[in-house]
Order: sequence, then C-alpha cells, then structure tokens
Amino acid sequence: MVSAHNPYPPIFSWLCSTNNIPADKQTAAAAAMRRFVSQAREHFWQPMGKQMPYHDGFFRAAYLLAYFPYYIEPVYHALAADKLQFAERPDGVMKAAFFGGGPAPEALGLAAYLRDHAPHISAIQGTVFDREQGWGKVHRELLPILAPQYLRESGRLTLEHKPCDVVNCMGSSCSCDSVLQDTDFVVSQNFLTEIYANRDKAFHTFRTIIEKSRCKAMVFVENAYNDIFRFMGELAGWLHSQGLTRNRPVPTTHCIRPRITIPQALLENLFIGEGLLWPKRNVKFHRMILFIKR
Ligand SMILES: C[S@@+](CC[C@H](N)C(=O)[O-])C[C@H]1O[C@@H](n2cnc3c(N)ncnc32)[C@H](O)[C@@H]1O
Repeated sequence: MVSAHNPYPPIFSWLCSTNNIPADKQTAAAAAMRRFVSQAREHFWQPMGKQMPYHDGFFRAAYLLAYFPYYIEPVYHALAADKLQFAERPDGVMKAAFFGGGPAPEALGLAAYLRDHAPHISAIQGTVFDREQGWGKVHRELLPILAPQYLRESGRLTLEHKPCDVVNCMGSSCSCDSVLQDTDFVVSQNFLTEIYANRDKAFHTFRTIIEKSRCKAMVFVENAYNDIFRFMGELAGWLHSQGLTRNRPVPTTHCIRPRITIPQALLENLFIGEGLLWPKRNVKFHRMILFIKR
C-alpha cells in the first residue's frame, strides 16, 4: 500500500516561485489557472492520437496541477499487483528509462515502490525520453524537491532529460543508444495513447527499445481508454510473436484513489467543482508488464 503523500503544496509553490508570483498574489494565480486547467482537460477529452500542446508553458503548468499528482501512484500499484522483484544492481543503482515521461510523476511512484519492496536498490538513475524540451526544467528543479517524500533517507533519484522524438529516433543510431544500452528497466506511462495513431511505428518503436536496451522487464501504465486496452494486448501479442518476450500478458484494469490531499486554497480557487474544474479523486488505468527474453 502506498503511504500518504503530499505533492500539491510543493508543486504549487514551485510554479509560483518559478513564475515570480509573490505570496499575496498566489490565490489570484490559482484562480487564473482555471482557464488553463479547463483547456487541458478539454484536450484530454478529445479522441486519442491527437497531438497535445506540450510546448505551451500554461498547458504544462495545468498538467502539473490537474494530472501530475494523480499519476505518481499507478506505477506503484502496477508493480505491486505482480509483486515484481528486482535483481541486485551494481552499487544498488537502477538505470531506468521513462518513455514519454513528460514531467515524470512515474519516477516518483517507482522510487516509492523500490523504497518499500526493494531495499537492495538505493538509487535510481533515470532518463526521461520525451520530445518536449520544456519538461527539462521540471526534472532539474521540481523533481528534486518532491523526491525525498518517495525515497528512503539515504535514497537518491536523478533524472536526465533526453529531448527526442522517440518514434522517429529509435530506428536510426543516435545519442539515445548509449543510454538505452545501459538501461535495466523501462517504464511507459500514458505514452501509448500519444503514439497510438501510427500503429506500425508504435510497435516498431517498442521492438527497437527492447533490442537496443538490456532491460528484462517493461511496465506499461495507461489511462483507461477501451481502445488502448486492445492496443496494449495487440502490442504484447506482436512482440511475443517476434520472439522478444517471455510472456504474452493480457492487460488488467485498476481503479485507485491516490492518497493525496488537495489543499483548501486550490479547492476554493481552482478546483471549484464547476464545468471541467472538478477535484479529481480516482484514477482508472490499464497496466501490463512484459518480461523480455535475454
Ligand atoms: C500524457 S504525457 C505523459 C507524461 C507522463 N508519463 C505521465 O504519465 O504523466 C505524454 C508525453 O509523451 C510525450 N510524447 C508524445 N509523443 C512523443 C514522441 N513521439 N517522442 C517522445 N515523446 C513523446 C509528450 O511530449 C508528453 O510529455
């Protein structure tokens, strides 16, 4: 069970300080974000496969407020459902890759899982493969503020941002290759939805990731769209038919109520319950774990 955590205050306070908003203007800033949170939620209600405006700083800020806190726990539950065990790593360091990681809430969920279930792993050296450069500042500044909540006292989480278009980069040889060659574990969270429109390219992207990395397992976590459930099963079947995986899992669907609290100031000024500004409580997601033949 994930212990209670409190990501909202540090996220909101970082957003304010990075945008030079003084304490007496923060209530107004929360209210001003209503428009952008509504727009972001509208975008995510549209049919899948549509490109989202991650290049827009307001969209990214809205993502941090409306989604990031909720997307920390799913990977924890996804791993715990299978009681996934991790082998010893040299120096206790796991090298993890997060595909379409964006601001990488899943890195915190993975850290919490390792803290609770893999005492022999004391550090995660992560690389976030994401084509949106703007997330780099979040990895450099916000994640180090949040990480201690999810690590044991001596634990470490470092994240490097590799800004690349994964789907178009994986075919050729590039600077991503050396990182991948040294990758133990792959996380793909809410990424299939983004690359789903070009099915063949998506399949080949994961084939290349498997071939170029040394990872033994890959976890997928996706928002609970029906089409994506089917797509995950087809991807698992295709990779298995190519002789790349040891198993051919069927995705499973989970619903969790993350153990977080929305601060009163955000409930009164941002998540006010009107239109698309409801305070989110539950997260429903599909998950599957692939075991790679090595
Ligand atoms: C919905 S966000 C998910 C972020 C994070 N994994 C989470 O669960 O909150 C999807 C991310 O995929 C990235 N993305 C979409 N297509 C991509 C591509 N072809 N190559 C690299 N990143 C991509 C976007 O920039 C975005 O940051």
